Amino acid sequence: MTNHIVGNHALNKVMESNILKISQEAKAAKALNPEVIDATVGMLHKEDGKLFKFIQVEELLKGLSDSEMYFYAPVNGTKEFSNGVVDWVFGKHKASMMEKFHISVIPTTGGSGALSNSLYNFNDFGQSMLVPNYYWTPYENIAEEAHVGVETFQLYDENYHFNLKDFEEKAKSLATRQNRLFLILNDPCNNPTGFCLTKQDWKGVISVLNEISRMDIPVILLHDSAYIDYQMKEHDQSRDVYEAFLDLDDKILAIIAFSGSKTFSMYGFRIGAQLGISKSKAIMDEFNRVGDYSVRARFSSVSRPAMSVIGKIFSNPDIKQKFISEVEVAKDLLRKRIEVFHQVADKEGLKMLPYGGGFFVGVETTNQNIFKDLVSDGVFIIAMPGMIRIALSSVKLTEIERLVKILKKHI
Ligand SMILES: Cc1ncc(COP(=O)(O)O)c(C=O)c1O
Repeated sequence: MTNHIVGNHALNKVMESNILKISQEAKAAKALNPEVIDATVGMLHKEDGKLFKFIQVEELLKGLSDSEMYFYAPVNGTKEFSNGVVDWVFGKHKASMMEKFHISVIPTTGGSGALSNSLYNFNDFGQSMLVPNYYWTPYENIAEEAHVGVETFQLYDENYHFNLKDFEEKAKSLATRQNRLFLILNDPCNNPTGFCLTKQDWKGVISVLNEISRMDIPVILLHDSAYIDYQMKEHDQSRDVYEAFLDLDDKILAIIAFSGSKTFSMYGFRIGAQLGISKSKAIMDEFNRVGDYSVRARFSSVSRPAMSVIGKIFSNPDIKQKFISEVEVAKDLLRKRIEVFHQVADKEGLKMLPYGGGFFVGVETTNQNIFKDLVSDGVFIIAMPGMIRIALSSVKLTEIERLVKILKKHI
């Protein structure tokens, strides 16, 4: 018995690296001084500093009926939304995925809701999950909330390729120690680095997962696909990694965390999904049982307007095609910024981490005071152990040369 106002399990909850809070600080500093460069925000902004919004999303939002706007969303999603998520995520590989796997969609409050439900339901309290050493820091908080710890493997080998060897070692060690492996891979366009695994890398990962599963150890692969639509590849090509998924062993559960935030610019609406796949029907029955329960028990249901809009985009081929063209415009915006960043970084001798797409570029650093040093020169970034994350999603082309020079000065 204690006399604390909070429960014992909540005594040590302190948000140490709050990306949203630092973003607010950067915004406030920029409001006072327009010369400040705010490279913190994981939301795509245009060159005029305004949020990148999709015309299709805007128009559909304006035309929603009362029931499409205000009603509770069905726990399992509308047909248009849930079937559409499967089409969207798997693209041209949908038929082969459906042939091999039982598939189920559970709408969640953003990709974060998918992560949080999954970590909570597919671990024992006190166990740890595995992620690469450069990861989106809220994973820690989402895991902590589920009474789950975090262990890491090295993302890169000495050539800055995927470090399959370290992954294999750490995965097997954790799995045999605790009789479970829950792996999160944020791919393509890893936040914070912009790194993308190749299909061959995925094949290697899946072969290790299969080995572990054959030891009769439960294996859960959480594929965080938040930036799937921002890989610097054709829309369909960024789905090619799912060919590797076809080899997953029968007893493995894979959950794709789908996010409506980046793909549709519907950040504040809080819409996403857990897309569960397994070759075992029994495992999918478990996935549905605990997933439906947690949705009801944790947030009841998700944003109805967002589900309606996304459902309409997914189910109307004409709107979908127009929307895909708009995504290309969004990608182009990032592509141009990356090109300039690359050019200036080369000229200034600033080494950036390999970038395959997404909102962020990463630069490694040994400077422990990097955040403060950069702020003193009017630059806000997110600092993480060993590196900084630069959100090119919110930096204008005209700011990049100055940004790179300041980074180079302090790195
Ligand atoms: C790597 C990663 N995963 C998941 C999310 C979750 O996004 P949301 O909950 O807004 O869908 C984000 C958002 O920044 C992210 O960067």
